[in-house]
Amino acid sequence: MKVAVIGSGGREHAICEALKISKKIDKIFCIPGNAGTDLISFNISIDLNDFKKIKDFVFENNIDLVIVGPEKPLVDGIVDYLEKFNIKVFGPNKKASQLEGSKIFTKKLCEKYKIPTAKFGFFDTFDNAKKYLDNSNYPVVIKADGLAGGKGVYICENKDQSHQAIKEIFDGKFGLANQVLIEEFLKGEEMSFFIISDGETIKTFGTAQDHKRVFEGDKGKNTGGMGAYSPSGLESDQLNKKILEKIIKPTLKGLKEQNTKFVGFLYAGLMITNGEPFLIEYNVRMGDPECQTILPKLKTDFLKIIIACVNKVLKNINIEWNNKKSLCIVLCSKGYPEKFLNNIEIKNISSISLKKNEYIFHAGTKKNKSKIFSNGGRVLNFVIVSKEFNESRNRAIDLINKVNWPNGFFRKDIGFKIIDK
Ligand code: AMP
Ligand code: GLY
Repeated sequence: MKVAVIGSGGREHAICEALKISKKIDKIFCIPGNAGTDLISFNISIDLNDFKKIKDFVFENNIDLVIVGPEKPLVDGIVDYLEKFNIKVFGPNKKASQLEGSKIFTKKLCEKYKIPTAKFGFFDTFDNAKKYLDNSNYPVVIKADGLAGGKGVYICENKDQSHQAIKEIFDGKFGLANQVLIEEFLKGEEMSFFIISDGETIKTFGTAQDHKRVFEGDKGKNTGGMGAYSPSGLESDQLNKKILEKIIKPTLKGLKEQNTKFVGFLYAGLMITNGEPFLIEYNVRMGDPECQTILPKLKTDFLKIIIACVNKVLKNINIEWNNKKSLCIVLCSKGYPEKFLNNIEIKNISSISLKKNEYIFHAGTKKNKSKIFSNGGRVLNFVIVSKEFNESRNRAIDLINKVNWPNGFFRKDIGFKIIDK
């Protein structure tokens, strides 16, 4: 089978790696890919906004299946577009992708179907938001409405910070803003919860704990994710059941009542407070770096699962996992998530040899004349699967030290809630 993966991050490298070991795979294309996917697939440089070019490439190369990694093309409707040409594609359609693309859409759905979430309000001018904030209890959470690469969220401890946040959002830091969302701050522990669906059947697809803040001890600005581990320490049958019954199923029912279905990965970002799950946000794809920790634990053939989904027979598949502990540390470019330098050579990476259960997934990298250069804020992902989280973390740090990239920085405390407690 010939498969095209859309995207260029660590998640897409991990997806290509999972496809590579499938019995059914003949050829993998990655559009546009990175220096890591280049090692195991054919990188194809097409602008992800150019759906027609992607469609033409699929036809010219007899590609059997397209797997969409990132949110932007999903929210922009790539699935609807390719399906018009009878191309098999794994991912949710444009309407269902609003679960990630529009916080207003999701909050309204939560309201209608009584899905537990933080109390909230939308404000359409700076003055209205400011008036509300002047009478609020702190901390409060302020969010831009659309996609912001995980960075459009402010946790504000006081009035000054909150005024700064609404100013930045209305000034267009995350694109044109007609409204801001102001939310109650939820206390508790976070968990990333994944399901896969063919539109009828749903199956759980692992849990993970992300680390969104840039500095150790969960300090500093929000990022796309500095590291993760799987499974989440909060996972239990009882909690899984609550999440499915109170959050996932009512959401999918809500979509059905709007005449659409969810096909793909659905990622619920949750806050668990006294054993009860609250929805923070939905993403309509695998998490990054959660995907990089989850896929190496999968025992069932990944491509077989995806094919079952697009053929609407997921009910026939039994998804099996190993029970090991997977942990990922993200190596970033100094300065991320603010200003950072690009195009810095990563000299030692090609000389590293990996043992079983060790992975280096590339994120923001590119190749130029057989040398590898940084090409983004999050650059490399180091994943170890072992019996203990502590061992996974130590070995991931050893690998990073071997790469010894002077322009890099990383959090040494990934997993602190479960390892160092
Ligand atoms: P989001 O992009 O909506 O997932 O938000 C990014 C991060 O901000 C989350 O992973 C949480 O750590 C934090 N966050 C968002 N909303 C809330 C909330 N209502 N209460 C507490 N923390 C939040
Ligand atoms: N790791 C967070 C995300 O993928 O949105």
